[in-house]
This record gives sequence, structure tokens and C-alpha cells, in this order.
Amino acid sequence: MRDAESGHTLDPGGYEAELRRHDRVLRRSWDVRPGDHVFDVGCGIGQTTREAARTARAGGALGVDISAPAIERARELARAEGLRNVAFEHADAQVHRFARQRFDLAISRFGTMFFEDPVAAFANIGRALRPAGRLVMMVWQSPERNEWDVAIRQALAGPRGPIAAASAGPDPFSLADPPAVTRMLEAAGFAGIAFTEVREPVYYGPDVTAALGWVRGFTHTRETLNRLDPAAAARAVGRLRETLSAHLRDDGVWFGSRAWIITARRR
Ligand SMILES: C[S@@+](CC[C@H](N)C(=O)[O-])C[C@H]1O[C@@H](n2cnc3c(N)ncnc32)[C@H](O)[C@@H]1O
Repeated sequence: MRDAESGHTLDPGGYEAELRRHDRVLRRSWDVRPGDHVFDVGCGIGQTTREAARTARAGGALGVDISAPAIERARELARAEGLRNVAFEHADAQVHRFARQRFDLAISRFGTMFFEDPVAAFANIGRALRPAGRLVMMVWQSPERNEWDVAIRQALAGPRGPIAAASAGPDPFSLADPPAVTRMLEAAGFAGIAFTEVREPVYYGPDVTAALGWVRGFTHTRETLNRLDPAAAARAVGRLRETLSAHLRDDGVWFGSRAWIITARRR
């Protein structure tokens, strides 16, 4: 199930499965303590928020997302699990006035790359953290270091076409450059900024048909296919299927990926 507007998954299986290798590393970096109050930025349907809340037994977790359907779904999933120390807010994390100095730890799994004004957004997130509160987020490294992005773009563009340029919309690679991100976070009031490389593959599904369904939901794939006439779109889907087939292993469809875990402390 996907949000019709953004294309983001509302299905707990999809993103969780894609990032299962990343999650192991991310959990260790978050290092949530039982008494922590955790703030999950761009929480989507709240998998990571619920996970943080389960560990922060004496504290709790707040998940925030700009997508109303995602927040609705996050609430349903938390209710179904009977979690009492988790809450969700439908808000733009860049500008929403959160309670000041409320949280010990701000986390995000690929939810912080889409701000129009990242310095303003991280300053706003910082205000919600107590002094010396931690920020731990996972973001993509540059597109050319991400096999999944290169392969999907090449498949969509075809053998003669240029690799389709990124859309003018939100850029999932906007926090890929460590020096630029360091300057940005320092300007937003953070210190002790560090980058740890995560080199784990992404999983797109148990077989090619499932993987194709998943990849067709990506913003770039949807935008590209929508721009093509029906015959050209069918050819592009055929090429995408071939690319996915070439990445099918015994345990499903996998592509190489490279991400950063960025850690920082509120000054
Ligand atoms: C790639 S998804 C990651 C979702 C979630 N963190 C996860 O790992 O399942 C990025 C999320 O960031 C959210 N997002 C984008 N801009 C945002 C903003 N300004 N404020 C809050 N959430 C935002 C999107 O709606 C989306 O749910």
C-alpha cells in the first residue's frame, strides 16, 4: 500500500525489508537508553519510532512526518502493538514549533534529506533537543556510489539515452557531502559532527516481479515513466525488469548501496 500523493510506502514490510541490513548498524548507533526521550524526524509509518519506544521503556518516542497518511498509518501500527509511550505528529520538521529541550536523542532513517532550508530545519530540530542531546541520522552517499540508483537510472534511460537527471523535487542525496553537511550542522548549532560509512546492500524483494513493483514506487521511476509515451514506458519497464533479473540471487534481489550515519551533539 502506498500514499497516492508521495508514493511512500504505507506497508510495514517494504521499507523494513529493503533496509534490513542497514537497521542492524543504525540501532547500534542510536544507542537508545531506557529513560530516553527520542524524536524521530521524517518517521514515515514509524517503524523506527516504535523500535525506539520499545527500548526507551521509561521514556518514550515522538515520530514526526510531513505526510498525513504515513502518520495515520504509524498511529494504527503503534495502537495495534499496544505501545503506550509513543506518539506521532503530522508536521513539517523544518518549521513546526516542538517542545523546547524536550528530547535526549533525535534519530532519522533517511528522513532528513528533503528540507528546503536544511540549516533552519536542523536548528529547529536542535531546539527540541536538550543541550548536548544527540542527533543520529542515516542518509545516502552520492548517487554514483549507490549501485541501485545508477542501475535504475540507466535502465530507465536505455542504452542510447543519457542517465536521467534527478528531478527538481526533493533530493535524497542532498546530505551526501561530508564537508557541506558539517558546515550546515555547525551553522545549525551542532558540534562533534562525525560520519560513519555504511556499506550494506538494499533488498528489493524475493523475486523480480516483487522487486519491480517496489522500484516502480520510487519517485524518480514514477516521474520518468509518467513522462514517457505508453510504448516507451513499456520498453523502459522491460529494461528495468532485465536489470532486476541481473541482480537476483538465491535470497532475492539486492543492489549495492552506500550511506552515512551522521552523528552530532547539540551545542
Ligand atoms: C525515505 S522516507 C523515510 C521514512 C522513515 N524514516 C523510515 O525509515 O521508514 C522519508 C520521509 O521523510 C518525510 N519528510 C520529508 N520532508 C519532511 C519534513 N519537512 N518534515 C517531516 N517529514 C518529512 C517524508 O514524508 C517521508 O516519510
